[in-house]
Amino acid sequence: MTSRLSLSIERSGRWRRRLALVVTGLLTVVLLASSGSRAAPEQPWRVGTDPTFPPFEYRDNSSGQITGFDIDLIKAIGNQAGHPIELVALPFDGIIPALQARSIDAAISAITITPERARAIDFSRPYFEAGQAIVVRENGPNLTRLDQLQGRRIAVQIGTTGAIAASKVAGAQVSSFDSTPLALQELANGNADAVVSDVPAILYAIKAAHLSGLRIAGEHLSSEVYGIALPTNAPITGTINKALGELIASGRYAALYRQWLGAEPPVLPATAPSLQGQSSPLAGLDLALLAKNLLKGAGITLLLTVLSFSFGLVGGTALALLLQSPRHLVQVLCRLYIDFFRGTPMLVQLFLIYFGLPALLQTLDVPFTIERLPAAVTALSLNVAAYLAEVLRSGIESIDRGQWEAADALGFSPVERMRFVIAPQAIRRVLPPLANEFITLIKDTSLAAVIGFDELFRQGQLMVATTYRAFEIYIAVALVYLVMTTSASLLFKRLERRLSLPS
Ligand code: ARG
Repeated sequence: MTSRLSLSIERSGRWRRRLALVVTGLLTVVLLASSGSRAAPEQPWRVGTDPTFPPFEYRDNSSGQITGFDIDLIKAIGNQAGHPIELVALPFDGIIPALQARSIDAAISAITITPERARAIDFSRPYFEAGQAIVVRENGPNLTRLDQLQGRRIAVQIGTTGAIAASKVAGAQVSSFDSTPLALQELANGNADAVVSDVPAILYAIKAAHLSGLRIAGEHLSSEVYGIALPTNAPITGTINKALGELIASGRYAALYRQWLGAEPPVLPATAPSLQGQSSPLAGLDLALLAKNLLKGAGITLLLTVLSFSFGLVGGTALALLLQSPRHLVQVLCRLYIDFFRGTPMLVQLFLIYFGLPALLQTLDVPFTIERLPAAVTALSLNVAAYLAEVLRSGIESIDRGQWEAADALGFSPVERMRFVIAPQAIRRVLPPLANEFITLIKDTSLAAVIGFDELFRQGQLMVATTYRAFEIYIAVALVYLVMTTSASLLFKRLERRLSLPS
């Protein structure tokens, strides 16, 4: 007995040793492989870009590849310096945080060199000259100067110099979108009076993206130069500047310029005029402003949640009751509704209602615009109703058959049976899943940011876009959500206790 035991111990010890040997072997292979690639002379540069800005950077529809003037330029620079380029697609407002985190080596994204940005990151020498322009609808008011935008609705891409210019216009209602094409769509749909963005990108968008009905009203409101963005004191800055200088001198730069912009390149300044004579450090985070903006956002988040949940509850209850209908067709229609709204992403539903519907109706010559709030509440309510219908249905169906029969025996009509016997019991059972749906909805309202809604998450994004303090701000945003969801769950717990039967 003892010997058999010691034998098996010995055997399992041997197995463990073998296993250890295999694991060590594998680890060595992995380590060697990875150190081998690190030692390679031509380590790729990871370059961030927001590929929604043709002709500078965009995804080619047929090949799916990221292409554009910037992309060809950075590839030529990499080629000149002996480094392959690995493109990393990022949202524009995520580029500077990514450079600060050093998760990318550089970024090329038509990024204007500004003193504020230069406090958070470094720039190469300028490689492009551009300026801001105002776009309006063809039949809209002729707004040629920024000061004429006072009191108007302006759509911009979040974190861009266009957004900064718009934010300085007194009394303007600025809504920010994740990309310039979305801001232009907002204008085309009639939900904004103007878009402020870079001239070459706008010209290209109007020409190539078939955004008919838009025109440039004011051009070259500012003069800006673009630079390749780099982490502060990055070792590759010198290499990039040298390669860029060589490309300009050899005429390769001019060839790319002609190819993408159909014009002769201007003579570029050696340093950005906007950076001359300043070098103050990055300003501290204004905590009072952060608190104020996040509270404003939290108010909007709460409003969205309460409105959508209320409408969703009404719709969900109606659906749950209709699902009890003896008519087959009614049941099928309800199921179709639920399957559609549960089975497609809320994000898609939001885009469909806010951008899709007005665009469709306008091509049919039906003048229709939908404001942000009704659009967001509609999308969220339709979605929540589908989930709540299922919760309520299962609550109703969980009530014991005996209860239904007892109500029938007492001569209750189906409505009375539901109202006096089934519903009061079902409500107690569905409270915990209802609380779940409510909490989920609080968080899901953050999706409304994509249609330019300044709810809690977007307020955070907007602050990051000007202060570049991603970690502190997003932690603060998360905490505010946490306070909201925890309070909601406490409220529901209390309600549950209130409704529970005395035992
Ligand atoms: N030049 C403007 C800026 O730096 C807009 C750049 C937008 N670029 C983009 N890839 N979306 O703010």
